[in-house]
Amino acid sequence: MATFTTALGSLGKLLTPPPPFTDYEYDGLEFRWTIFVFRPALFKMEALLTLAIILYVLGWYIGKAANIKIAKDWYDAHADILAAQFSRPTNGGLTRDGYSDLFNFSTGRRVVASLHTVFTLRPRHDPFQVIFQFLYGFYDFTYEPSDIITLDFKLHANTSAPEGVFAVVRKEQLKTIKRERWDLTFTKTTEHKALPAAFSVMSEFADISETIFKEFGNFSLIKVLNDAKVLPYLISLSITDQPAERPTVPLLPEERGRHLIVKFSIPSGSQVNDTKGFVTSLFQLVDIVGTKFGSALRPDTKSKLRKIREDLNQQLKVESTKEQKEEAEEAKRAAKLRREQERVSRLSAAEQHKIMERDRKRSMRKAQKVVKK
Ligand SMILES: *[C@@H]1O[C@H](CO)[C@@H](O)[C@H](O)[C@H]1NC(C)=O
Ligand SMILES: *[C@@H]1O[C@H](CO)[C@@H](O)[C@H](O)[C@H]1NC(C)=O
Ligand SMILES: *[C@@H]1O[C@H](CO)[C@@H](O)[C@H](O)[C@H]1NC(C)=O
Ligand SMILES: *[C@@H]1O[C@H](CO)[C@@H](O)[C@H](O)[C@H]1NC(C)=O
Repeated sequence: MATFTTALGSLGKLLTPPPPFTDYEYDGLEFRWTIFVFRPALFKMEALLTLAIILYVLGWYIGKAANIKIAKDWYDAHADILAAQFSRPTNGGLTRDGYSDLFNFSTGRRVVASLHTVFTLRPRHDPFQVIFQFLYGFYDFTYEPSDIITLDFKLHANTSAPEGVFAVVRKEQLKTIKRERWDLTFTKTTEHKALPAAFSVMSEFADISETIFKEFGNFSLIKVLNDAKVLPYLISLSITDQPAERPTVPLLPEERGRHLIVKFSIPSGSQVNDTKGFVTSLFQLVDIVGTKFGSALRPDTKSKLRKIREDLNQQLKVESTKEQKEEAEEAKRAAKLRREQERVSRLSAAEQHKIMERDRKRSMRKAQKVVKK
C-alpha cells in the first residue's frame, strides 16, 4: 500500500507543471496593477518583432508612394504631348496592377488605334525584393534593375504598315530579348555604323532597316537615336507585325496587328523632361510606319515577308490540326470508356463480377505479351 502511494505521489509530481520561474531578482522597469505585473525587459523579442513589422509596413507605404510619384511625374511632364495627339489621351486614368505596374491608355488619333503606356517600376514597396535585387547585382554585374516605361502603339488595321519585324536594341538586351519576344526570333542581329555603339539592329531583311533609317521629310530615325537625350534611356524600339508569344493557331493578317513598341528607362527628378523630344518624335515615326514605310520597301522584300508568314501559318496549321486530332481521339476514347462503364453499372452484381474478371485476365495477357516481346 505504501509503495502505491509513493508511486501515485511521483506520478502526481510528473503531471503537475513545474512552478513558474519567478525567484530571480528582477531590477528592471516594472508596471504593477492589482495582480498584474508587466516587465518590459522580458519582451525584447516581441518588441523587436513589432518594430520590424512597423518598419515593413512603413517601407511598403513609402515605396508604393515613391513608385506612383515616379509614374505620375513622368506622365504629367508628357501629358501635353499626349493631349495634343489624342482626342482621348487617358481612358479612365491611372490603372494599377499590383504595386509596381501602372497603366494608361490613350485612343482617338489617326494611324494609331491605341497607345498603351505601361510603367514597370522597381518593387520599392517590398523591402525583401529590394534587398534581393541589390544582392543579385553582386552575382550578375550586368543586372541593373530600373524603372521602365513601355509605349505600345497599336496601329489601325487600315494603315499601310507593312509586315515585317525590325528593332533597335540595347546590346545588354540581346542575350535575353528573344526569350521574351518571340517576334524578334524572326530577325537577324547586325551592327549599324550610323548608330551609337550601344545599340544593335535586329531586322528580318537589310532592306527593312535601310528603309526605316532613310530620311522621311524632316524626320530621320538615325538622328533620333543619336540624340544625347535618347541614348541613356532607350532600351528597345521595335516595329512588328507578330505577337510576343508564339501563337498556337495560324493568325490572319488583321489578327496580327501592327505595333510600334518602345521601351526606355524612366527619367525622374530634374531629368524628367529629357524624353519629351523623343516621345514627340515617336509620333512622327508611327505616322511614317503607318503611311509611308510600306510603299518604300522593295517589292521583293514584301513578297519574301509574305512567304515567311505563309510558311509559318502552314506550319502552325499542321501543328494545330495534329493537336486537334489527338484531342479528338482522346475524347473519343474517353467517351467509349464512359459508355462501357455505364452499361456495366446497369448489369447485375454477378455479371459485373464476371466482366471485371474478364478484363483482369485480358490485361494480364496483354502485360505478358509485352514482356515476351
Ligand atoms: C493617366 O492619365 C491621368 C490623366 O492625365 C493621370 O491622372 C494619371 O496619373 C495617368 N496615369 C499614370 C499612371 O500616370
Ligand atoms: C481607319 O480606321 C479608323 C477606325 O477604325 C478610322 O477612324 C479612320 O478614319 C480610318 N482611316 C481611313 C484612312 O480609312
Ligand atoms: C517636320 O515636318 C512636319 C510636316 O511634314 C512639320 O509639321 C514639323 O513641324 C517639322 N518639324 C521640324 C522639326 O521641322
Ligand atoms: C519640365 O518642363 C515643364 C514645362 O515645360 C517645367 O514647368 C518643369 O519645371 C520642367 N521640369 C524640370 C525638372 O525641369
